Amino acid sequence: MTHPVAIAFVQTDPEAFATQRGRIALIVGAALSPAGRRLDKLTRGAVSRALASEAWGKVKPGESLVLGFPAGLAAEALELIALDRKAGQEEARKAGARIGKTLGPEGALVIAEGHPRAAELAFGLALRAYRFDYHTAQKPAPGAVTLMVAKPEEVARAAAPHAALAEGVFFTRDLVNEPANILTTGDFAARLAAMQEIGLDVEILEEAELAELGLRALLAVGQGSESPSKVVVMRWNGGEGAPLALVGKGVCFDSGGISIKPAAGMEEMTMDMGGAGVVAGVMRTLALRKARANVVGLVGLVENMPDGRAQRPGDIVRSMKGDTIEVVNTDAEGRLVLADVLWYAQQRFKPRAIIDLATLTGAIIVALGHERAGVFTNDDALCDAVLKAAKAEGEGAWPMPLDPAYDALITSRLADIKNTGGRWGGSITAAAFLKKFVVDVPWCHIDIAGVALPPGETMLAPKGATGWGVMTLDRLIREQFEA
Ligand code: BES
Ligand code: ZN
Ligand code: MN
Repeated sequence: MTHPVAIAFVQTDPEAFATQRGRIALIVGAALSPAGRRLDKLTRGAVSRALASEAWGKVKPGESLVLGFPAGLAAEALELIALDRKAGQEEARKAGARIGKTLGPEGALVIAEGHPRAAELAFGLALRAYRFDYHTAQKPAPGAVTLMVAKPEEVARAAAPHAALAEGVFFTRDLVNEPANILTTGDFAARLAAMQEIGLDVEILEEAELAELGLRALLAVGQGSESPSKVVVMRWNGGEGAPLALVGKGVCFDSGGISIKPAAGMEEMTMDMGGAGVVAGVMRTLALRKARANVVGLVGLVENMPDGRAQRPGDIVRSMKGDTIEVVNTDAEGRLVLADVLWYAQQRFKPRAIIDLATLTGAIIVALGHERAGVFTNDDALCDAVLKAAKAEGEGAWPMPLDPAYDALITSRLADIKNTGGRWGGSITAAAFLKKFVVDVPWCHIDIAGVALPPGETMLAPKGATGWGVMTLDRLIREQFEA
């Protein structure tokens, strides 16, 4: 479903300007470059008139002014993009994204010349050019992109690490965008198993084994579904010592179960495997770039459906840890899945740190909207590193509280703990629940319910899945967990 764009880095060749079809994008800094002057000449001064206009004065760094069907050029549009040499990574990606967004079958010629951020621009372009749909009317694939720069080899070298990262992001987006009849627990596991080809060690734990191990809270969530529950373990051993564990909520569809959700918007719950999708995307990137780190990714794949065999509100289940859980609401299923996978990850791998990701609560969207994920922790140093990495990648994140005072909201009359904490502070009581299943290890829980599939397009993604977190976690691993 993904159509990755081919970007060729070549030396600036003014001879190609007049005949290029599709789009030409000119990166405009403080002064007009020789290539810019050439385009100005070809268009009989349209470029310099545009740059002298009031409209250009309002164009911010990374944004653009489009000249349609410019005389003197075969291209259908000439886009002037404001990006001076001092522009940062974010602005360069934004500039690239503008080109990626409108990329048509005839491709584009981007004239960046000596811009120091040309590789970042190419990355933004590639990320924004992503498409996913099941339309049967064949849309032509996006055409090739030629990026003209002063030193093509140098830019290609700077752009090389982005290939693995973009592939990880696309893998996550595809998983999150897939509908639940296609991405069943079995299909999801099969796509992860296929990553053995790129050097990951992938193990699939089936229901019988999960029962044997005692992951009854996870199994209880899936017992109303025709799709068998699974836990998939992906290992990348590129370093030394105890691994970092990444844990993801992989609810392939969440109808709420017996505590069924209202019909309106329920179709969006095909994205409830978003946490698992991010874990999978990060593992893919690590393998593709042969990261010098030990990382284990664990995902709990289940489907939460109402059925004669489904768990009921009021059921009491025993977790792998041994704690009993009163299931007050079957729609608070993600924490039941994560409780067991978190415990299993600690028992088996003795990780040096754990990061879990989950589309866990609607309440985090009430708190932070669609701009930032909520980050909960028992370890401020790890949390600071996560927030710093997110900031550096332009992925919104914000710290949320997790003090013991919230624990009182999830005590149960009948069991050790209950799975909802009432109306207020819903994302915090969910995190407080998870905290009970993490013992003596630095841990961050990231609630991505608002950012995995926002209601509209973002800077780097069309409407649909964003792949939020792949870039953040890859950077975190590079900066904190690699030799
Ligand atoms: N998967 C949902 C959370 C969610 C909501 C994700 C909106 C993405 C967008 C989760 O399983 C859920 O249903 N949570 C309930 C918890 C409640 C029953 C305590 C919620 O947020 O309403
Ligand atoms: Zn859910
Ligand atoms: Mn739910």
